[in-house]
Amino acid sequence: MKTRVQATCQSCGAQTPRWVGRCPECDAWGTVVEEPVARSAGAAPAAAVTLEGLSALDAADAVAVPTGVGELDRVLGGGLVRGSIVLLAGEPGVGKSTLALQAALSLGRSSRVLVVCGEEAPAQVRARGERLGTVPDGIRTLADPRLPAVLGALAGGGTEIAIVDSVQTLFDPDIPSAPGSVTQVRECGARLARLARDEGITVVLVGHVTKEGAVAGPRVLEHLVDVVLQFDGERSGGVRVLRALKNRFGSTQEVGFFEMAADGLTAIRDASAYLLADRCADVSGSVLAACVDGRRPFVCEIQALVADNGGQSPRRTGIGVDSTRLPQLVAVLEQRAGASFANRDVYVSAVGGFRVAEPACDLPIAIALLSAWHNGVVPADVVAFGEIGLSGEVRQVSALDRRLHEARSVGCARVLVPYNAVEDAGTGVENLEIVRVRHIRDALVWLNDRW
Ligand code: TYD
Ligand code: MG
Repeated sequence: MKTRVQATCQSCGAQTPRWVGRCPECDAWGTVVEEPVARSAGAAPAAAVTLEGLSALDAADAVAVPTGVGELDRVLGGGLVRGSIVLLAGEPGVGKSTLALQAALSLGRSSRVLVVCGEEAPAQVRARGERLGTVPDGIRTLADPRLPAVLGALAGGGTEIAIVDSVQTLFDPDIPSAPGSVTQVRECGARLARLARDEGITVVLVGHVTKEGAVAGPRVLEHLVDVVLQFDGERSGGVRVLRALKNRFGSTQEVGFFEMAADGLTAIRDASAYLLADRCADVSGSVLAACVDGRRPFVCEIQALVADNGGQSPRRTGIGVDSTRLPQLVAVLEQRAGASFANRDVYVSAVGGFRVAEPACDLPIAIALLSAWHNGVVPADVVAFGEIGLSGEVRQVSALDRRLHEARSVGCARVLVPYNAVEDAGTGVENLEIVRVRHIRDALVWLNDRW
């Protein structure tokens, strides 16, 4: 009998009756491939179904078990909930396997952990484990990435937590498409999730995504897992940020900060101290920004450099900041604050490897640029935050109090805030002078008296 085929977008998972060059859902080009369809007999209604009263169920089953990796537990909302499915997604090389293994080493001391090694041989995982800590007896490995082997290992009992690294290496031999294709990832994920829920096994699926989220992205799993964690960071730098894009058991506002070092990932508990450790404050073009990522406040240094470019077309380069906003900010400073960056290259950097793309960083970036342009040094104890509109007005941002408390805790004494920030902002924060600015020109006037 002829095998039926179906075309599936490898980026978003959308299905079309036949191959097309461009996905009608996500508009990506060249991502749709034809895959054979596994035939199903079609489901008939079951004769006997058991229903359970919601109020009679035991809520204690949803208690989170800490992994022992503090920053991971913070993002998970306390730890891994028994029987839940977690997707740990990120670009290749960011440190997913390292994070998963560190959690396994810690969990393996008191729980029975199964690591499905699809990408590395178990001996390599062991070697990496020894570099990261002590390998406890509670961890077993499975080197067979075929779905029936994995399901068999889990159904055999004895596993409380399973880590599958990575979901793209899993495959069901009954499905004709290649490992890592959308059909395989979706099927394997769904079968694993069903078994895990039935058996009360916690499953962590490691999944690679590319910058565009493309190439059989594990995004197709997002709807069937309980938690989606995204691990980000520049591979060249050491800082890694963990966020929850979805969390059925907790907030998605918590973020985890890590540093990748020779002996694995270590927590950055005090992000401001980490970022300000090497600050050299008595140069022009430098000012502090009070930022928040999710719920977590930190103060970081923004640096700007303005350099003559000898008549070439001017460059506007941002590192760690939103580089699409940078040309706009430069234009606002030229049109609304009288600065001139014509025939000059502009470089702006958030120092230390954190990415600060929130609009609240507009004001500190603008101040750093004005300071570099004017060659005036902003006093070291000045910090700022606020969004800047196209008229040069300074607009309100969220998490005012958290920013002010953090600024004070790192020793800032003066803070430039949006004029319309709530009246009682900063009450309870002692020894912090609050300077309300309505327009970027107000900030310039204030600074002109001080540099
Ligand atoms: P890895 O966890 O393998 O990334 P992923 O699973 O996301 O692809 O780690 C990637 C990089 O981290 C690797 O290139 C080397 C580096 N690394 C360290 O710097 N220190 C360490 O202790 C470990 C284990 C890895
Ligand atoms: Mg890996």
